[in-house]
Amino acid sequence: MSYDIAADIQRLKKEKNAVVLAHYYEDGDIQDVADYVGDSFYLAKMGQTVKEQVILLAGVVFMAESVKILNPTKTVLVPNLEASCSLVKGAPYDKYLAWRRQHPDGIAVTYINSSAEVKSISDVIITSSNAAQIVDSIPKDRKVLFGPDQHLGRWLSKKLNRPFELWQGACEVHVLFNAKRLYELIQQHPDAVVIAHPECDESVLQYASVVGSTSRLLEEVEKNPATKFIVATETGIFHQMQKKRPEATLIQAPVLDAGCSCNNCPYMKMNNMEKIKHALETLQPEVGLDETLRVKAQVSLDRMMAITS
Ligand code: 13P
Ligand code: SF4
Repeated sequence: MSYDIAADIQRLKKEKNAVVLAHYYEDGDIQDVADYVGDSFYLAKMGQTVKEQVILLAGVVFMAESVKILNPTKTVLVPNLEASCSLVKGAPYDKYLAWRRQHPDGIAVTYINSSAEVKSISDVIITSSNAAQIVDSIPKDRKVLFGPDQHLGRWLSKKLNRPFELWQGACEVHVLFNAKRLYELIQQHPDAVVIAHPECDESVLQYASVVGSTSRLLEEVEKNPATKFIVATETGIFHQMQKKRPEATLIQAPVLDAGCSCNNCPYMKMNNMEKIKHALETLQPEVGLDETLRVKAQVSLDRMMAITS
């Protein structure tokens, strides 16, 4: 009989009164051991409502910080505190504050892919699943400052026919999908439905018949009767897509360098089953936030929750 780390994790969850939340970009074995798997909004919402005292967030650190901000009495763990995000790294607090101050009349609409510090100086947080609804709730005569993801912002601004002042951040994974190679792939598979995450460049998004959050893309694969899909987002989501539609052909959208595996998010992939087991055993590493910062950051996250639910 071989060693079953998943069984060990299940035992530890019971012993420690813990729940595991996982993002769709985690490896399949992590998703299978999780109690809840979803997009960033779903994970924030579950993190706010679960009963267990310990919440292990298998995803990137801003996701776990959001849970801690919304549900501060819980012990919030991550497998790896180094699991950041290029959008977080590309929006340092000081520069974001200076940008805000350049536009004192603007409403700062900030993507959840941001640090707790940046959330604390934002008016409202959005995710790709609720961004349109939230921006629509802002009076039309108010200027919108949108950051840190310029591609999500550009797509949303066009969709809502509303100008935004854009922060110039980007997801280092989604920007690598290549429009020319995607066009060529579509010629080879004219029967495929192209679906894309809005963090992709607009040159890629122009070919997609569905643009949406990870959960929206999964829903499309589940419900669309087509049998072939070209998917422009991180590879981890193929696990759930293939589970929902085992008979469907799922093709990864191409990046420029055909040989590279750069459509894997390097931060999401810092997590593994060993680290999850270790975190549950030791209750470390724990996400900690200064209480003054947490309370300030909660304002913009609470607004998102109030508008969305
Ligand atoms: P979702 O909210 O759509 O899951 O996106 C999170 C993310 O980090 C995409 O790169
Ligand atoms: Fe950040 Fe991109 Fe990774 Fe999502 S896929 S966590 S946006 S680096």
